[in-house]
Amino acid sequence: MYEEFKAKIVLITGGTTGMGKAAAFAFARYNAKVIICGRREAEGKQTEFEAKKENLSVDFYQCDVSDPKQVKDMISYIVKKYGALHFAFNNAGIDGERGPITECTLENWQRTIDINLNSVFYCLKYEIPEMIKAGGGCIVNNASVSGHRGYPGLPAYIASKHGVIGISKAAATENAAKNIRVNSISPGLIITPMFPEERRKEEGFKKWIEAIVPMKRMANADEVAKCVLWLCSEQSSYITGDDLAIDGGLLAR
Ligand SMILES: NC(=O)c1ccc[n+]([C@@H]2O[C@H](COP(=O)([O-])OP(=O)(O)OC[C@H]3O[C@@H](n4cnc5c(N)ncnc54)[C@H](O)[C@@H]3O)[C@@H](O)[C@H]2O)c1
Repeated sequence: MYEEFKAKIVLITGGTTGMGKAAAFAFARYNAKVIICGRREAEGKQTEFEAKKENLSVDFYQCDVSDPKQVKDMISYIVKKYGALHFAFNNAGIDGERGPITECTLENWQRTIDINLNSVFYCLKYEIPEMIKAGGGCIVNNASVSGHRGYPGLPAYIASKHGVIGISKAAATENAAKNIRVNSISPGLIITPMFPEERRKEEGFKKWIEAIVPMKRMANADEVAKCVLWLCSEQSSYITGDDLAIDGGLLAR
């Protein structure tokens, strides 16, 4: 279906778990060469091992995306080792500590903005010049339905995700004529380590999902991964600067 991914170089941040891992395996099943990054080597090596068992080309690179130098070094390493960079899914993120603005510590604010938003700026800053050298590329940034709405209790997360949608649009307009498309996605409620099983089993959780999601269920990470591939593929060749809600209708309410 996606012949265009064959032998192409794909970077996925936060690719050892959740949606990043699902997208990494999905790209690799179309014979792309995928580099996943994360902070923890053991987790990265485990994901690499699972991919090798399926004969998939998924390599781990240790990188904390909230550190601009590490991001710069990672992209230089990828281009040196693999020859180019064609696609990127800037996906790494955390939800941060829960509580209202008046109780949000400066550390929680800074850390959440650093990991969720500043990292996307660092990635774009160093990915785009390499994609220009490669003759073009596609970038998908992982935002959230929380990038569209406000609600109590996660101010830094909500602010960071609004920022991800904004910087994606800015990058799209700056690079549209250079054959680089940049879009963001806004997942709704997705079954990943960010929503651990204990939380999903809490009393009232199912009722809450049914009340806020018109499709009355969470999605699995593969349902997000297939949208990321579509946004990177020729099937979406005239789409840039957009944000795709993958939310079972949550934002349509
Ligand atoms: N799960 C959901 O319902 C949901 C909904 C909307 C958006 N999102 C967003 O999707 C993205 C992926 O999350 P997920 O749900 O797959 O959960 P996840 O926790 O499995 O994935 C996040 C990944 O980012 C990595 N990461 C965190 N900080 C990092 C850092 N400083 N450097 C490098 N890697 C780092 C984590 O180790 C993890 O692998 C996040 O940006 C999250 O905000 C999740």
